[in-house]
Amino acid sequence: MAQGTVTFDGAPPPGTINLGIGQPSADLLPVGLVHRASEAFFACAEPFELNYGVIAGDARFLQSLAGFLSTGYGATVTADTLFATGGNSQALDLVSSVFAKPGDTVFVEEPSYFLAFQIFRDHHLNVVGIPMTQDGPDIEALRQELDRTTPAFFYTIPSFHNPTGWSSTAPRRQQIVSLAEENGFLVVADEPYQHLFYYAEPPPAFGTMIASEVVLSLGSFSKILAPGMRLGWIQTCDELRRQILGNGFVNSGGSINHISSHIVRHAIDAGLLDTHIARLRTVLRGRVEAMDAALHEHFDGLATWTRPDGGYFFWLRFDESVDAAALRRKAPGRETGFQAGDVFSAAGQFGNYVRLSFAHYNEEDIREGIARMRPLFD
Ligand SMILES: Cc1ncc(COP(=O)(O)O)c(C=O)c1O
Repeated sequence: MAQGTVTFDGAPPPGTINLGIGQPSADLLPVGLVHRASEAFFACAEPFELNYGVIAGDARFLQSLAGFLSTGYGATVTADTLFATGGNSQALDLVSSVFAKPGDTVFVEEPSYFLAFQIFRDHHLNVVGIPMTQDGPDIEALRQELDRTTPAFFYTIPSFHNPTGWSSTAPRRQQIVSLAEENGFLVVADEPYQHLFYYAEPPPAFGTMIASEVVLSLGSFSKILAPGMRLGWIQTCDELRRQILGNGFVNSGGSINHISSHIVRHAIDAGLLDTHIARLRTVLRGRVEAMDAALHEHFDGLATWTRPDGGYFFWLRFDESVDAAALRRKAPGRETGFQAGDVFSAAGQFGNYVRLSFAHYNEEDIREGIARMRPLFD
């Protein structure tokens, strides 16, 4: 790799179309926007802007974020319910420190975002899967698991779930909160795709349910602005927020990712973020439709799927005899790629499933990538 080459872990070799990559394509990363917002910030920055910040997050950033969320959620969000994070990965690590102790159990959806499993296991938490349906986690299965054990928290990805693309219905969200209240566990809702809808809006975010005092809603600028900003937020009630503010890392650090929060504040206040999200919705909707059409052309009869209404992912189910992980190893030979389903399981399931992302390639490359994948499944 030549020095100075911009890259990321898992970057495909030139010419390969790897539909396993769940990251934005270069043309979705708004360098001009971040430049303008940074210029606006540095043009009037005072020296103390470069000091440690307030540990909950810069008050002006939280105010701007509260306004952004209030508009998006159609419900009032106040700054004193928000805590600035370094994105949802960091937030998951933090909630694992603050709200669980080694040996505790956490429930996750089955399937779920595989990198979260590793974060939980790093904290010596036992990960137990609750099966998913297209309406959200299977409530009967959740009840049965609750008869056996009470988790420290239930980790859920309610809107445009990774990897399935499904969204929990509003009643399902309410049932989860009710069970948490009755049984004494927390709900950690990972909501990075809440604003990325291309058709109907998803049901209200868990962020609108914090009055229950059992909900932590994790939001991120990774998917609506740029992962490199490493900025997100936790929205929760007073008591849970107070416990976060008591964490040692939080106390020592002083406003996680302070400078990014200044830049993003300017982007929100100047309306740049809203404009960018509107563009993302248009471009990504085109890609959803391109992927759906290409899948119908090449995989009808071989796999089943539901076209997602938002987010980044399609989740394909193949015949039980298909070993997606083995086929994935052959994919680079055809200059293509995908994620095999088994990595999204806490229990070694979904070997005959495939996750495809439409975020990293344009429509033409998506069509080509799927055409290249097809012979692997013969
Ligand atoms: C469900 C889910 N949670 C968390 C993350 C990581 O979020 P962040 O970039 O905010 O750390 C991702 C990224 O793909 C994700 O899909």
